[in-house]
Amino acid sequence: MIHNNKSLSIAVCPSGAEQYDNATGLSRKLSIPLMPCETEEFEFLLQCSANGLALKQTGKDAPGPIVVSFTSRTMTYRVKHGGGRSQALARAIGLKKGRQPTVIDATAGLGRDSYILAFLGCHVHMLERSPILAVLLEDALYRAEQSEQAAEIIKNRLLFTHIDSKMYLEKLQQDEYPDIIYLDPMFPERTKSSLVKKEMRLLRGLAGDDQDAAELFTIALGCVQNRVVVKRPRLAPPLGSITPSHQITGKTSRFDIYLI
Ligand SMILES: C[S@@+](CC[C@H](N)C(=O)[O-])C[C@H]1O[C@@H](n2cnc3c(N)ncnc32)[C@H](O)[C@@H]1O
Repeated sequence: MIHNNKSLSIAVCPSGAEQYDNATGLSRKLSIPLMPCETEEFEFLLQCSANGLALKQTGKDAPGPIVVSFTSRTMTYRVKHGGGRSQALARAIGLKKGRQPTVIDATAGLGRDSYILAFLGCHVHMLERSPILAVLLEDALYRAEQSEQAAEIIKNRLLFTHIDSKMYLEKLQQDEYPDIIYLDPMFPERTKSSLVKKEMRLLRGLAGDDQDAAELFTIALGCVQNRVVVKRPRLAPPLGSITPSHQITGKTSRFDIYLI
């Protein structure tokens, strides 16, 4: 399969007989082989199970599987104890009480930042170009829609489109420009806590480094009403070497804010 311009060795597998139809459908949709889950022939496996879709890397030192979930324990903890509107992400976006800004998350990835912003009241449109991450996000949205805890947020404030954001943003008319564009492109030397590290390792293996991030950033600056926010590793240079209006720096990462 060709993925973000590189060839990717990936198959889909059903974790049990009841998942066979699901897995066959995905195999057709993504044009990837259908295999038993024990196979070691492919670098990645998309595993269909009753608990949702999981992405797994094969081989000895591979990180554990990831499932995109808006209702997982980690996500629920982040929602409850992440600091609400005073957390760095919300301050970078410029969240104010009573306001519900429109945000395009042009690098949706596993959808975590998007979900937090939607939880805090933003109307978020997630864009992701990876076809594998797109099916993981769609699966997560479907499951969250059935849950009591997340259904309202998903239905009213979280939208997803599988597309390259550069293409999407370039086609926006001026009256469609969002208040905020959020970018969190993959950065080559990112080091984080063990959990994030595992997810980032897998994401990087799947999607590669986002070599065109500076190009996406330039496009974003031209089609937004209020600000572009770029997440960077704490010590990384600003994206495209453009000095931000201001920065919010945390322990491992930093938000560069570009006011329009
Ligand atoms: C570091 S991850 C983002 C993680 C995300 N903020 C989260 O909370 O899960 C970066 C993602 O951006 C996606 N991406 C990068 N450039 C893109 C583009 N031009 N269009 C759409 N998606 C893009 C990559 O495929 C990757 O999944």
